[in-house]
Amino acid sequence: MTEQPQTKVLRWGILATGGISTNFTKDLLIDASTRGQDFKHAVVAVGSRSKDRADAFIRELGLDIAKGYGSAVDLFNDPNVDVVYVGTPNSNHYPASKAALLAGKHVLCEKGFTINAKQAEELVRISEEKRLFLMEAMWSRFFPATIAIQEVIAGGKIGTVRRVFADLAQDFKTFDMDDGHRLIAPSLGGGALLDLMPYTLHWALLTLFPHPAEISSIPKIVGQMTISRSVDLHTTAVLSFDELPSAQAVISGSMAAGTVNQVVVQGSEGTLTVSGVMVAPTGYKIKYNDEREETVECSDPNTDNAFGFCFEQDEVGRQIFAGSVESPRNNHQTSIRVMTILDEIKRQGGLILPQEIERV
Ligand SMILES: NC(=O)c1ccc[n+]([C@@H]2O[C@H](COP(=O)([O-])OP(=O)(O)OC[C@H]3O[C@@H](n4cnc5c(N)ncnc54)[C@H](OP(=O)(O)O)[C@@H]3O)[C@@H](O)[C@H]2O)c1
Repeated sequence: MTEQPQTKVLRWGILATGGISTNFTKDLLIDASTRGQDFKHAVVAVGSRSKDRADAFIRELGLDIAKGYGSAVDLFNDPNVDVVYVGTPNSNHYPASKAALLAGKHVLCEKGFTINAKQAEELVRISEEKRLFLMEAMWSRFFPATIAIQEVIAGGKIGTVRRVFADLAQDFKTFDMDDGHRLIAPSLGGGALLDLMPYTLHWALLTLFPHPAEISSIPKIVGQMTISRSVDLHTTAVLSFDELPSAQAVISGSMAAGTVNQVVVQGSEGTLTVSGVMVAPTGYKIKYNDEREETVECSDPNTDNAFGFCFEQDEVGRQIFAGSVESPRNNHQTSIRVMTILDEIKRQGGLILPQEIERV
């Protein structure tokens, strides 16, 4: 009898038991073979500031084989963990990711990736030195719709891209929030800049530069913020790139205005609008200059019951099993560039976050 090859398993450790960790972990439980992967995901450990919360998370999500830890350090030291997902508030991304890398773990860290570009550079340095995978969890980059949109733009269907508008706004009722809420506490890296603007900036970059290698500079930036309770409530920036002298991007985010979740890409031959929401796109529409219209849906019945984190999760698996330290779809230079641009918008907008969380 011939022996069946053993399926590879990527063993995840989840750091923090909040909202995003819950949704992310639920997606990890969907069998990756339904999406054509040759490996499986397994959640083997959960770390929290409280062991009781870690154990409750394990019980509630039915993570039969997972071990609960009452500290991040214990999670990072678990020899069964291959990769750590960092789902803590923004201020904790850098120290947690750094400690996980130094403990020998691959890392997928939520957005805003770090508090500033210097922290991103330091994480990249450690990842490359230790040959460990590291990525900002910008899940929107991995949806089939996003990949299709990049291909359609690169293929020239809307002509030369002239303008991109990406606007992400939601009324989080910040005026009613306690000072300590992660969305508005400066000590936790609160504000629209690190919570919402990473999406709008990634969309500007991925539509203006469908091939990441084409971008080599930092754009000229004009940024403006409305600051309330010491963090930015609304932020807008205009970006123009030396590589694209006829193009401009306008990106904006708001934590206190009605819901807008929209990306519009204007080309010389037509205008592409992202369907669904920019964080989890489902397809696109093109209206050509001659009034013709085209609508493309990219949803996949195999992922109907998922939030959509599975696409980035599979990319983490593919890259780790291939021995790569980064993903070509969201590489280290992109993460550093994103943080460098956000740093400049922060400087121009006058946002000052506490020194303790800016430290490298
Ligand atoms: N990709 C996306 O679509 C998406 C959506 C929402 C949020 N996010 C990102 O995910 C991160 C978490 O957001 P969330 O909505 O899940 O927040 P959340 O519900 O408040 O959960 C954050 C968790 O982090 C831990 N935590 C809280 N304060 C901490 C601190 N000072 N130091 C270390 N750990 C702390 C807590 O878990 P324990 O009590 O178990 O330690 C808490 O439950 C943020 O960076 C946010 O930008 C991403």
